[in-house]
Parts: sequence; structure tokens; C-alpha cells
Amino acid sequence: MRLRPVLALAYFAAAAHTAPALALDPRPARVCAACHGPMRKDWESSSMANSWKNPVFQAFLADAKSALGETALAGCVPCHAPMASVLGDLKFESPISHEGVTCNFCHNVAAVDPKANPPSYVFDASDPNLMRGPYADSDPGVAHGFVYSEIHTKGDFCAACHEHTDPGTSVTIDATHTRWKGSKAAAAGKQCQDCHMPPSAGQASPRVSKMNREKVYAHTFAGAHSPAMLDSAASLQAAVEGGRLKLTVANSRTGHAIPGGGGGMRSIALEVTFFDGAGAKLSAVPVETYGTEFADEKGKSPVPKWLAKKVARVNEIPADGVKEEWCDVPAKAKKAEATLTYHFIHPAYWAALSRRQVDLARHQPVVMARASVTLP
Ligand code: HEC
Ligand code: HEC
Ligand code: HEC
Ligand code: HEC
Ligand code: HEC
Repeated sequence: MRLRPVLALAYFAAAAHTAPALALDPRPARVCAACHGPMRKDWESSSMANSWKNPVFQAFLADAKSALGETALAGCVPCHAPMASVLGDLKFESPISHEGVTCNFCHNVAAVDPKANPPSYVFDASDPNLMRGPYADSDPGVAHGFVYSEIHTKGDFCAACHEHTDPGTSVTIDATHTRWKGSKAAAAGKQCQDCHMPPSAGQASPRVSKMNREKVYAHTFAGAHSPAMLDSAASLQAAVEGGRLKLTVANSRTGHAIPGGGGGMRSIALEVTFFDGAGAKLSAVPVETYGTEFADEKGKSPVPKWLAKKVARVNEIPADGVKEEWCDVPAKAKKAEATLTYHFIHPAYWAALSRRQVDLARHQPVVMARASVTLP
């Protein structure tokens, strides 16, 4: 068995991507869909399937290239276009390179070392037709080989891309896996898969195999783009104490901090709007923002993750944790309305993306929680 370790390379050390073109014949998702229709249908509209085509990613990739040169690309592909990475296809000649995090990639990963820095995955290029998955008693007939893979059933699998410290600068870019490890959900045995690929009883290959499975995992990878997930992620309460407004933000349902990662892209804003006795708006006050901001060598912040030389600010709502914020009440205010708004893209980058006419349809801010209180 020929195993090729692939490191999620640091952005700057990525210049020499010398992966040889492999005699590898990976199948596009379309081929798997002949027998695994439901998985393909779920996956198709997920962020993972679009991790390369995503117009916002492409816009930032263009920025990264103009700041660091063409070689910046090699630092992004291990996570955003892993097939291009393992095929050594940095010209994106193979259609499968465009498929983002795709079936034949994940199901050929033989090992993940979440403790490595950055975490690394091992892609088994020797036999792209050998599927690694959760069943020891699979029944794919002649369709493909199979092997039970414990790592696919564990959150450590996802660390391959959802945990990232730049070894050059020691800046932690993403710590979703570490945050999950320390959560009550992880202690109770809840894996990333349990929340982001929620299982249900059914068949893994409905048209081909009659095997009834207790658990078939959805391939939606629903996260912040799923209204149901975002709605339930945080709660917000408003109260008046000692003449001041007290806001309590709680994160009890996610298995990690929120924002859940995002490499400095995401931020959550807590704002309050005050109204007078007649219901007229008096003022809107930004109270707090949650997320991570990086600074470059000159101290400019926020900057995108590939320019990060240090962490300028980290303020997350921890897993199972609560944040209490206070706000002065203006004279004449009779009502306060608080909102917690999720920004997929840090507001600092928004105007420039709009000017460039980048399609921001999937990145419109979403209100996650509201609370209102009558003031004495
Ligand atoms: C991000 C990685 C990833 C991608 C992309 C992915 N899978 Fe999976 N798949 C998994 C994991 C992890 C499991 C096992 C989940 C568990 O048991 O906890 C799984 C399970 C399966 C199973 C077993 C039945 C089930 O759903 O539990 C099949 C079949 C499967 N995947 C097919 C596909 C197909 C077809 C595609 C592409 C349309 C695909 N997978 C894309 C990670 C992935
Ligand atoms: C010709 C039909 C067919 C095609 C095409 C096909 N599969 Fe399967 N596959 C099956 C059947 C049948 C099973 C067994 C289901 C069961 O045992 O419940 C299976 C099982 C699996 C499993 C579970 C393996 C295990 O041991 O846990 C994975 C993962 C998987 N397929 C992934 C894929 C991927 C990825 C592709 C495309 C590259 C693909 N399959 C293409 C029919 C097919
Ligand atoms: C090969 C790298 C890779 C692996 C392995 C991987 N992911 Fe991802 N994932 C990504 C990238 C890249 C994105 C961001 C795509 C974008 O926004 O363009 C992403 C996005 C997501 C999102 C965000 C969805 C949204 O719409 O907000 C969730 C949830 C997610 N992944 C869950 C998982 C889980 C669970 C696993 C393990 C079963 C996993 N990922 C494994 C690379 C990976
Ligand atoms: C107990 C359920 C649960 C577990 C376990 C869990 N998540 Fe989440 N995750 C959520 C919810 C709910 C959200 C939506 C809130 C949000 O986006 O911050 C989310 C959001 C995300 C996002 C999206 C975006 C973001 O930046 O805010 C990513 C990526 C993600 N999770 C990855 C993971 C990975 C990887 C693991 C395992 C290491 C994991 N999650 C474990 C519930 C869970
Ligand atoms: C170690 C894996 C990894 C590497 C390397 C990486 N990314 Fe990411 N990237 C991710 C993950 C995972 C997410 C989604 C995180 C989340 O939702 O919490 C993401 C999200 C993004 C987003 C936000 C996308 C959106 O639509 O919200 C942009 C933009 C982005 N990355 C650009 C880049 C660029 C450009 C590079 C190369 C210079 C790069 N990334 C390198 C894993 C990686």
C-alpha cells in the first residue's frame, strides 16, 4: 500500500509543492451518486462541495496571490481543494480538482494525526477504489473495495482541516477541534459527525443494497449556513440591573466555541437599539463582537489569515459558556432591543467585496438571537 502523507502546509512554506502527478484515477461525485444518491444530494449544496468554487474564497485567493505571489495557492489547496493537492494538479486540469472536499477524497483518507502541527492527513493513493467508512460488514459487491475505518467515525477526522496553527508564526488560525475536545459534548462522546452529519436509520446505497442500517450519516455538513443550526446555537437574555442593561449570551448547543472557527473571517456582533416611550428609535449601540482578529507584521488588523503574524484579539463565546455584557441606558429610553448577528465575513472586508461585485448571496448576515426588555 502506497501512502502519501499530505500536510496542511503553512502558507509561506508552500512554495515548493513538488507532489508528483499520481497514477490515480479518482471518481467524481457523479459516479458515486449512481448508488449513493442521497449522500450526493446532501453534499452537493454543502460548503464542503463548494470550498473551491465559493466566490468569496476565490476573491480572497486572488488577494492572497497578489500579496504573496502565485505560490500562495499551494497553501490553500490541502484544505480547500484537497484533490488538487493529492493529485499535484495545481493547474486544475482535472475536473475533480474543482469538486472541493469530495467523496473520493474523504473516503480515501487512511489516517489523520490531530496532534501534528498543523494536523496532517494521509491520503491512500494506491487504490482510489478502496472506500474507507464506518461499516465492517459492508456489501458493495463489485462496485468497490471497502475497509472499516475507525477514524471516519471520530471527530479527530475533521481536525485534518478544522484545526490549524501556522508552524512558522505559531499563530492559531483555527481551533475548532481543540475547542470541541474541551466541550461537554465531546466528554459525552458526541463527535462532530453527530451534529454536522446527523444520522438516521436507512440504507447506505438504497438502490443497490438491501442492508438496513441503524445509522446512515447525512452528508449535509450543515453549519452556520443552516438556519436551524444557527438559530439554536446561542441564546440571548436582556435584563435591567442597577439601572444598567445586562445582556447574557449563552452557547449551550454547539460542541465548540462560537464562532466555530472561520480563520478570522467570521464575527458575531451584539448590538442594542433603544426606543423612547412613543416607540421612536433613540440610538443603536454596538456592545461587543465575538471572533478572532489577526494582525500583520506592521500591526494592521484585521488582516486575512494568510497575512497573520500575530493574534490581535480573541473573544469567543466558549462551549457551554456564558458571556455577560453591560450597557448604559440613555435618558428617556423606555425599551431596549438586543440582537446577536452572525457575520460570515468580518464587516471590515464587506465593502471591498461588494465593490468588486463578488456574489455575497450566501454571506448575508443572519440574526441568531434577539431579546427585548422594557426599561423602568
Ligand atoms: C468531509 C468528508 C466526507 C465527504 C466529502 C464525504 N463523506 Fe461520506 N462519510 C464521511 C464520514 C466521516 C462518514 C462516516 C460517519 C460516521 O460513521 O460517523 C461517511 C459515511 C459515508 C457512507 C456510509 C453511509 C453513511 O452515510 O453513514 C457512504 C456510503 C458515504 N459516506 C458516501 C459518500 C459519498 C457518495 C460522498 C460524496 C457525494 C461522500 N461520502 C462525501 C465523510 C465524508
Ligand atoms: C455500483 C454501485 C456503487 C458505486 C458506483 C459506489 N458505491 Fe459505495 N457502496 C455501494 C454499496 C452497495 C455499498 C454497501 C452499502 C451497505 O453495506 O450498507 C457501498 C458502501 C460504501 C461505503 C461504506 C464502506 C464501509 O465499509 O463503511 C462507502 C464509504 C462508499 N460506499 C463510498 C463510495 C464512494 C465515495 C463512491 C464513489 C467514488 C462509491 N461508493 C461508489 C455501492 C456503490
Ligand atoms: C480536506 C479538508 C476538510 C475536511 C477533512 C473537513 N472539512 Fe469541513 N470544511 C472545509 C473547508 C475548506 C470548509 C469551508 C468551505 C467554505 O466556506 O468555502 C469547510 C466547512 C465546513 C463547515 C461549515 C458549513 C457552513 O456552511 O457553515 C462544517 C459544518 C464542516 N466543514 C464540518 C466538517 C466535519 C464535521 C468534518 C469531519 C467529518 C469536516 N468538516 C472535514 C474543509 C474540510
Ligand atoms: C453538539 C453539536 C456540535 C458538535 C459536537 C460540533 N459542532 Fe460544529 N456547530 C454546531 C452548531 C450548532 C453550529 C452553528 C453555530 C455556529 O456556526 O457557530 C456549528 C458550527 C460549526 C462550523 C461553522 C462555522 C463557524 O465558523 O461558526 C464549523 C466549521 C463546525 N461547526 C465544525 C465542527 C467540527 C470540525 C467539529 C468537531 C471537531 C464540530 N463542529 C463539533 C454544533 C456542533
Ligand atoms: C488547514 C486548512 C485550511 C487552509 C490551509 C486554508 N483554509 Fe481557508 N478555510 C478552512 C476552513 C476549515 C474554513 C471554514 C471554517 C469555518 O467555517 O469555521 C475556511 C474558510 C475560508 C474562507 C471563508 C469562506 C467563506 O465563504 O466564508 C476563506 C475566504 C478562506 N478560507 C480562504 C483561504 C485561503 C485564500 C487560503 C490559502 C491562502 C486558505 N483559506 C487556506 C481551512 C483552510
